[in-house]
Amino acid sequence: MTELPDAPGWSEDDSRHFIDRGAYFVPERETQIDTIRGVVPPAPDGAVIVDICCGEGLLCEALARRFPKAEIHALDGSRTMLAAAKARLEAAGAAHRTTLIDIAETGWRAFDRPIHAFVSSLAVHHLAGPDKARLFGDLTAALAPGGAIVICDLVEAQREAGLELWKRHWDDGVRERSLALDGDERMLDIFRADGWNYYADPGADPVDTPSPLFDQMLWMAEAGLTGIDVHWLRAGHAIFSGVKP
Ligand SMILES: C[S@@+](CC[C@H](N)C(=O)[O-])C[C@H]1O[C@@H](n2cnc3c(N)ncnc32)[C@H](O)[C@@H]1O
Repeated sequence: MTELPDAPGWSEDDSRHFIDRGAYFVPERETQIDTIRGVVPPAPDGAVIVDICCGEGLLCEALARRFPKAEIHALDGSRTMLAAAKARLEAAGAAHRTTLIDIAETGWRAFDRPIHAFVSSLAVHHLAGPDKARLFGDLTAALAPGGAIVICDLVEAQREAGLELWKRHWDDGVRERSLALDGDERMLDIFRADGWNYYADPGADPVDTPSPLFDQMLWMAEAGLTGIDVHWLRAGHAIFSGVKP
């Protein structure tokens, strides 16, 4: 098989590490997944739900189980992630499609039918601000009336005090998980050594470009979405959404 290049700023090694460590490094991961799927509007039979940068497919599977008659489209820039997501969707008996994309490109944003919901978790921060605004516009154009965009992502702190809090809260979350799952703080040490806490050193990795939550909600409004709301936030990870009238 021809080797395709890694997604810009994300390697197949990153995918394997994230699969191994996501249970520790993602704050309240089960709550995040439950919240995202909870704010997707009820899906008519055959509705298409698209997970952008689906990773190993945990959210795809949760959506497939809540909406067994929907079709789940799993998009990602990593073949390792897409293979894992496909296996989960098959095991769940879901109608599905997997597609290799670069989120920064626009070609994948054309769909053969209106989309019921776009969801995306922990990936949109790879786009610069104007590219996020463009993404929200493109996705809104592809939505069916009544459909939704639900984003879960790191957002940018606006003041030093907020940055400090989110840095500490993220460390606290990893400590909690490390103690709960392994009975020690070893994964917190790895989290720190890996420089995974964006709020400890924003700007350290040019591929991470979170935007303020307020700006992103305005971009959703400018795209034509309504009912824009924040549903959950911890350690700088926010879940927010809007609905196409
Ligand atoms: C932090 S992981 C999040 C995965 C999953 N959504 C979750 O919440 O568990 C980031 C995901 O974005 C994907 N990714 C990174 N850069 C990308 C790009 N430029 N285009 C498409 N996917 C990308 C990675 O392969 C990975 O699956």
